[in-house]
Amino acid sequence: MKFFIDTANLEQIKEAQELGVLDGVTTNPSLMAKEGIVGQENILQHYRDICNLVDDKVSAEVIATDFEGMVKEGEILAALDDKIVVKIPMIRDGIKALKYFSDKGIRTNCTLIFSSGQALIAAKAGATYVSPFIGRLDDISTDGLRLIEEIRLIYDNYGYETEILAASVRHPMHIINCAQIGSDVMTGPLSAILALINHPLTTNGLATFLADHAKSQEVTA
Ligand code: E4P
Repeated sequence: MKFFIDTANLEQIKEAQELGVLDGVTTNPSLMAKEGIVGQENILQHYRDICNLVDDKVSAEVIATDFEGMVKEGEILAALDDKIVVKIPMIRDGIKALKYFSDKGIRTNCTLIFSSGQALIAAKAGATYVSPFIGRLDDISTDGLRLIEEIRLIYDNYGYETEILAASVRHPMHIINCAQIGSDVMTGPLSAILALINHPLTTNGLATFLADHAKSQEVTA
């Protein structure tokens, strides 16, 4: 399973990249706003800066909600760097935009997916990725992981090449469960990725190994 980091924070992206397990980055307008990036030129420069930090895919979201606007913005974003994936919302004009970009060979990420029907029509339109928001479904007492299972079944039934990008991942169990189900990608915060590393038995075991080694060195010294 590919690991994307879900942030526009350059420090966190750098930290994940240095760990050596990062396959990409997802951003959205809220994450960009959180970093205080204001104005079109600064936003475009921030995407360039992110692309310079990572080896692979960077999702950049359009703000327009009409077909012509999405095409115009998406083309500007795609021209920034080969790593850019144009993020398109799951709305009627978004489907048309997915088809347009797919026909032009420009990668897309269809965002704000909350049902398997939405994932099906996005795949039909040629989306490179679909982003089901599992955490936000969990927030309203609906099983987010169940949605990943449903989409996996539909895509496998018909051999759709659209990749399932589990989004709105909140904690390490989401990551583990997505991997068990067969999500192609997950995007989550750095904290959830780093939490995969920790186990108290590892911490204690290592402390014991190092203490025993130190003691044995004292005896033979
Ligand atoms: C996905 O691309 C979104 O940026 C993101 O995962 C949303 O997560 P949230 O529900 O934690 O805001």
